[in-house]
Amino acid sequence: MLSSNFYYRLNYQFKNGAIYPIFIGFIKDRLMHPFLSSKKKRSKIKHQNFLNTKRTSTDYFSINTYYWSSILNKNFKKFSYLEIGSWEGNSALYILKNHSTKNVVCVDLWDKAKSFKKLNKKNFNNFVNNLKNFKNRYSYFKMTSDLFFLKNKQFFDVIYIDGWHGTIQVAKDISNSWKILNIGGIIICDDYFYGDIYKNSDKNIPAPAINRFIKKNKKKLKIICVNNNQIFLKKIK
Ligand SMILES: C[S@@+](CC[C@H](N)C(=O)[O-])C[C@H]1O[C@@H](n2cnc3c(N)ncnc32)[C@H](O)[C@@H]1O
Repeated sequence: MLSSNFYYRLNYQFKNGAIYPIFIGFIKDRLMHPFLSSKKKRSKIKHQNFLNTKRTSTDYFSINTYYWSSILNKNFKKFSYLEIGSWEGNSALYILKNHSTKNVVCVDLWDKAKSFKKLNKKNFNNFVNNLKNFKNRYSYFKMTSDLFFLKNKQFFDVIYIDGWHGTIQVAKDISNSWKILNIGGIIICDDYFYGDIYKNSDKNIPAPAINRFIKKNKKKLKIICVNNNQIFLKKIK
C-alpha cells in the first residue's frame, strides 16, 4: 500500500514542473521500497556507527547511503568526486571511507558566510578534524560555489549538489556542474523534495531548478534514480 505521503510527493512534483520520466522513476523507487527497506536500514546504521566516532551536530546524510553505495558501485570502480556543500564533512566522509577515489574536492563557505559565523567556524573545525585520517585524499575550497566554478579547471565523475537551496543558486550549481561532468558521470541533487511538501507553499526551493534543467537536457541525460530525498542524473552525451 502506498502512503498518503506518496500522493503528496506526486502532487509536489507536478506543481514544480516535473516531466514524465521523473514520475516513473519515483513510482518505481517507492514500489521497490518494501523489498529494500531492511538493506537501507542496515546501510544507514553502519554509517551512523561510523559517524559516532566523529564530531557532528547533525546527520543529513545516513539516509542516502544505500542509494549512493548501490549506484556508485554499479557505475564506477574508481571516480573523481566534487561536492558543493560539505558542512561538517558527513557526505565527504562517506565517500572517502567507502569508495575508491581519484580525487575528492569539497566546496563550502563555512565561516566565510555572512551569517552564523560562530556556528560555521565550529562546522569548519569539525570538518577538518573529521577528515584528518584522509588528509592526502581530498582538498577543500572555502568559497562560494560560483567562485569555485569560475576558478576550477578539473572535470569530475560524480558531483553532489548540496549547497545553498534557493532556486536560482541550484540552477547555477547544476548548470556549472554539468559543464565539468565527464560523459558517463553522475550528478546527485539533494533535497529534491524540500520545504512543506504537503502545502507546497515554499517556492524558493531546488525542485523547479532541477526539473527545468532535466526538461532542457532530457536528450543528454538519463534519470537513474528518484527517491524520497534525492535525484541522480547520468550524463549520456
Ligand atoms: C546541507 S549543508 C551540506 C551538508 C553536507 N553535504 C553533509 O552531508 O552533511 C549545506 C552547506 O552548504 C553551504 N553553502 C551555502 N551556500 C553556499 C554557497 N553559495 N557556496 C558554497 N557552499 C554554500 C553551507 O555553508 C552548508 O555547510
